[in-house]
Amino acid sequence: MEKDNREPQHMKHHFGVSKIPILVQHCCFCLFLILTFFITTTTTTQAFDYADALSKSLLYFEAQRSGRIPYNQRVTWRDHSGLTDGLEQGVDLVGGYYDAGDHVKFGLPMAFTVTMLSWCAIEYRQQIQDAGELEHTMEAIKWGTDYFIKAHTSPNVLWAEVGDGDTDHYCWQRPEDMTTSRRAFKIDEKNPGSDLAGETAAAMAAASIVFRKTNPHYSHLLLHHAQQLFEFGDKYRGNYDASVGVVKRYYASVSGYMDELLWAGTWLYKATDNEGYLEYVISNADTFGGTGWSISEFSWDVKYAGLQLMLSKFLNEEKHKKHADILEKYRSKAEFYICSCLNKNNGSNVQRTPAGLLYIRQWNNMQYVSTAAFLLTLYSDFLQSTNQKLNCHSGTVDHEEIMSFAKSQVDYILGSNPMNMSYLVGYGPKYPKRVHHRGASIVSYKKNKGFIGCTQGYDNWYSSQSHNPNILIGALVGGPDWHDNFEDQRNNFMQTEACTYNTAPLVGVFAKLLHIENQKMAHDCNSLLVASFK
Ligand SMILES: *[C@@H]1O[C@H](CO)[C@@H](O)[C@H](O)[C@H]1NC(C)=O
Ligand SMILES: *[C@@H]1O[C@H](CO)[C@@H](O)[C@H](O)[C@H]1NC(C)=O
Repeated sequence: MEKDNREPQHMKHHFGVSKIPILVQHCCFCLFLILTFFITTTTTTQAFDYADALSKSLLYFEAQRSGRIPYNQRVTWRDHSGLTDGLEQGVDLVGGYYDAGDHVKFGLPMAFTVTMLSWCAIEYRQQIQDAGELEHTMEAIKWGTDYFIKAHTSPNVLWAEVGDGDTDHYCWQRPEDMTTSRRAFKIDEKNPGSDLAGETAAAMAAASIVFRKTNPHYSHLLLHHAQQLFEFGDKYRGNYDASVGVVKRYYASVSGYMDELLWAGTWLYKATDNEGYLEYVISNADTFGGTGWSISEFSWDVKYAGLQLMLSKFLNEEKHKKHADILEKYRSKAEFYICSCLNKNNGSNVQRTPAGLLYIRQWNNMQYVSTAAFLLTLYSDFLQSTNQKLNCHSGTVDHEEIMSFAKSQVDYILGSNPMNMSYLVGYGPKYPKRVHHRGASIVSYKKNKGFIGCTQGYDNWYSSQSHNPNILIGALVGGPDWHDNFEDQRNNFMQTEACTYNTAPLVGVFAKLLHIENQKMAHDCNSLLVASFK
């Protein structure tokens, strides 16, 4: 993160799920074409290819890879980088992700990215698999967790960051040419960081669920690290930005560490079923702000809405009845968040742009839109599966209304907006061409291995008006301002920079929207067939 300074492929995805015989499917497809023609010529509603968006979103994580690039890398303009990370400190910190358009490896946003990817894979595993993207999703998660295993060198030591923003931002270079400081920074007993330890524990616990069936040994290893990290974070309390000063101007933990400790406890309970973790989350509910904070933002810094929503879902299980009073309080806060996104609270609602995009703040607003779309989707599913409705101050909403609002946000992202632009790079006919991203904006190292120096990059590439030579496919950029305006300029980093945690929640939402479309298609086909055989 910088500071200071349509229609094709429908067939492939629509008939996998239905139980309609092949011959009938063909008939149905003809009817579908007629129907599509009818619909597209009578309405102006844009149809979006969520399968394409899903596939593209996962490519982005390959572009952000640090370390040794594997043989099956699909983003071919990238090559190895950061191969001596950690060397100065005598620890192997090769791997992991660059967070955004620069080359610092920031632990907190990286961990949140992995938690969100894992959460998507847990909740929408089947839908992601139906779209043929489960392998890629798991690879994206593992690229992060492999790094966390390396970075957690002993029970009470976690490497928090490699490189630093100030020296990194002084240069505009490809990661493959990097000449900036790769000094690594850690937290330990004397320099605590409960937020970082908590988020990393949450990421590893969540990922352990993802790998449980396919890679039980790895899953067990992740869980072991997660448990140690949680203990470390809980026992040695403090904000990580007080211990790792260089992170302060980039990823300061404004909300403190209590949300991450509750978040980690919740994930560990989900991963282990160990009552102790639930007791932790219940007994600290009040003192840690879990049932006190009404908040309209869910982000790499502020986890309350996410954990409140997870805990709400526990209410429906018999074994949790004894904690019903506290869980109800968590739930009412989760509902505050959802109602606030839906503009249905008494007063405190999330702002919207004139065209209806959720608007939290000027800088990288899309990160809040994608996390909101994910939580809304999840809550809609929860209401549907438990046959409930949500009572907001200004009205009762059902699961369909919530889902359709989440869809409106995703459709805005994909091009249904006043700029007619997809903010997911590489999707559709129009998208940002000057993304604030060092690697993407300079000729690929694979095409030209001639060294590009620190300031040479600024002179020859950053300040150029040309489009980026490499398309950062699947990146969700910061997005428009509060009037839906967007200026596609490389130096406009508030709008044109993308971050890994922007895209991560969308993996689950794209998969869910694709699934809904497929179901609708199967249903429409069945109805048409019934009608035509009458
Ligand atoms: C809604 O907010 C207004 C203004 O703050 C307040 O007067 C009113 O009592 C609130 N209504 C409810 C039902 O909370
Ligand atoms: C977006 O598309 C609409 C409808 O085609 C058009 O009226 C409008 O001028 C376009 N806006 C921009 C910024 O291209």
